[in-house]
Amino acid sequence: MSERNNKGVSRRQFLNYCLTGVGGFLAAGMLAPMVKFAIDPALQKAGAEGGKVPVASLSEITEEPKSISFKKKIVDVWTGEQETPFTAWVYKQGDQVIALSPICKHLGCTVNWNGDAKYKNEFFCPCHLGRYEKNGKNIPGTPPMKPLDQYEVEVKDGKILLGEVKANKIAEGA
Ligand code: FES
Repeated sequence: MSERNNKGVSRRQFLNYCLTGVGGFLAAGMLAPMVKFAIDPALQKAGAEGGKVPVASLSEITEEPKSISFKKKIVDVWTGEQETPFTAWVYKQGDQVIALSPICKHLGCTVNWNGDAKYKNEFFCPCHLGRYEKNGKNIPGTPPMKPLDQYEVEVKDGKILLGEVKANKIAEGA
C-alpha cells in the first residue's frame, strides 16, 4: 500500500504537521506567561493613567516628611483597570512640595523617616541598613546605589496631587 493519499500528503508528512501543531501549541502555552512577566512593567507604564491624583491638603504638610498613602487607577492590558495602593513621603521645602517614593533602591524594602535613632533626619531602610538624606540622596557607604525616586507633584486649590514616579532630580541639586 502506498504512503501517499490522493492529495499527495504522505502519512509521514501528516504526522509531522500534527506534531508541529501540537508542539507549537504547547510551546505558546509555556512561553506566554514568561513573555507577560518580561514585558508587564512596560505595559503597566504605558497603560497607567497619566493624570495626577489628590492625596492631601497643603495645610497638612510641613517641613517634616509625612507618610501619605493613596490609591491610583492603573490600567494593565492583562488584568484591566485596578485601584493600586501607593505611599509617598511628602514634605515642604520653601514654596516647593517634595514627594519621595518609600521604595529602597537597594532591594525594594520600605524606608522610614527617622527610622533609626542613631541617624537623625534621614530616611532609613531596616533591611540592610540603607540610608538616605532628606532629599532622597543615597548616603555613600550604605547599600543603596541610587537616590529614592520622586513623584511628580502639583499643588492646585490647596490640594497636593501626585503623578508618575520619576528619577530623583532634587538629590542632584536640579
Ligand atoms: S533593601 Fe534597603 S538597604 Fe537593602
